[in-house]
Amino acid sequence: MKTSALYTGSFDPLTNGHMNIIRRAARLYDELTVGIIVNPQKKPYFTLEERKEMITEALQGFENVNVEHFEGLLADFVNSRGFDVVVRGLRAAGDFENEIQMAQMNARLFDKKVETVFLMTDPAYSFISSSTIKEVHSLGGSVEGLVPDEILRRMDEKK
Ligand code: COA
Repeated sequence: MKTSALYTGSFDPLTNGHMNIIRRAARLYDELTVGIIVNPQKKPYFTLEERKEMITEALQGFENVNVEHFEGLLADFVNSRGFDVVVRGLRAAGDFENEIQMAQMNARLFDKKVETVFLMTDPAYSFISSSTIKEVHSLGGSVEGLVPDEILRRMDEKK
């Protein structure tokens, strides 16, 4: 039986930390969906369409990975699509508190047994977040090597 996994986030923008998790999860599971959360409360820097395009471009060559978006509860998206696994990245101890709450709440909301699996973020990227990338870039600092080249190009264009 094929195992399908979901990796979610705002990805505003996608970073090399996210890429590292995606690369490893794509090796572990038969199919991996990158699910972009659409939060009507938040005004993202990159529109949903831009993020979808950028991520699709960065993921060229990953044959078992596709990009989708969802709104509302993660558990509803999982239930409607029948994913077997939810993948999350853990960067530091601070992430753990939120993550365990989310994983346990989601476990109650899933229709079937769905495991939330945590991958430790590569230490090379454990200090980055999408917000710090945007802040450093907007103030003229270099974020080269911290985001995929295609994403850096898009960030330069948007500046
Ligand atoms: N490398 C680099 N950065 C990483 C990373 C990694 N491996 N993993 C996470 N980050 C960064 C993200 O870029 C993000 O940065 P930002 O806050 O500057 O944007 C930050 O860490 C937090 O990431 P994450 O926890 O994945 O937040 P998110 O906003 O990207 O996504 C959802 C959060 C979508 C997973 C969560 O809000 C959700 O499930 N929402 C749906 C609603 C729902 O079901 N709510 C009930 C939950 S119990």
